[in-house]
Amino acid sequence: MQKTIFSGVKPTGKPHIGNYFGAMKQFVALQNGRSDPDASAGVNYFMIADYHALNLIQNAKEMRELSLDVAIDFLAIGLDPKKSIIFKQSDVPEHTELTWIFDTITTVPYLKRAHAYKDALAKSGEESINVGTFNYPMLMASDILLYDTDIVPVGQDQKQHIESARDTAEKFNRIFGGSTSLTTGEIFKLPEAYILKDVETVPGTDGRKMSKSYDNTISLFASDDEIEKAVMSIVTDSKAKYPENVFYIHKLFRPTKELDKIYEENKGKYKVVKEILIEDLKNFIRPLRERKGEIAKDLGYVNKVLEEGKEKAKLVASKKMRQVKKAIGVI
Ligand code: TRP
Repeated sequence: MQKTIFSGVKPTGKPHIGNYFGAMKQFVALQNGRSDPDASAGVNYFMIADYHALNLIQNAKEMRELSLDVAIDFLAIGLDPKKSIIFKQSDVPEHTELTWIFDTITTVPYLKRAHAYKDALAKSGEESINVGTFNYPMLMASDILLYDTDIVPVGQDQKQHIESARDTAEKFNRIFGGSTSLTTGEIFKLPEAYILKDVETVPGTDGRKMSKSYDNTISLFASDDEIEKAVMSIVTDSKAKYPENVFYIHKLFRPTKELDKIYEENKGKYKVVKEILIEDLKNFIRPLRERKGEIAKDLGYVNKVLEEGKEKAKLVASKKMRQVKKAIGVI
């Protein structure tokens, strides 16, 4: 049976190879794994989560540019508007509308248990956390649940958010689904996270998880120069058998067996293995970067993709919203 896939990316900055291997690569694999081209029994949604990004990006010019950039990136990595619905969160107001409804069945302590909230709390204290950050999981639950999503391909860091979506779906179904018939009680489907085991965390140039906040990333569309600089800056540990931080990034591009041989042959020669990694990165990134450049030249096309995505997503979301409104008794 075909499944409905849904995922989103926040337009908060340049994507790095950690984002790609942790989540975006799976978007393309899942999209292309479909056998049914008209997708009558299963649909892929890939959303630009601009309202989620608004917690951070509070500048109109930046928001516009970064959002368009995610659309271009989606197309550059191989998402195909013929196979997938690519759209912007803010284009479908049902997302924020449903968020309010979920707010009314969710408690404050429940949201206080979210990792993202706890991290923000530890970093800056409660006084400076905006309500949008606190409420982030409810908007994300709305994103996912509006489309009867089965599978949500994401990076490991998003696991808890998918659990919140499941909890919220269950809670809503329990309260508003009606107790007489179990089947008609299921207004929301329970989604499942899809997280690849071996790329749970992609390491950055300092060995910690690759993350913009650690400043240890390699950009997915980096220039050859940037690639060289990033790899040369990888912190090496002379105590380990191999320069581990180089090796772990390298594992994204070659099978471990092949790497073992290369690293064994070049024991102690950190510069040599780094140079091999640079070549592998260049060969991987170059076609992506070129494709991105081509797509960016035709913004009319990109906007058309978003316009079509909006219409398709709206159709599904508004239908679900009617069902929800009936269930809560406002229509
Ligand atoms: N929170 C996700 C992230 O930061 C982005 C996102 C928003 C998302 N809505 C979503 C992911 C719905 C999956 C499904 O990466």
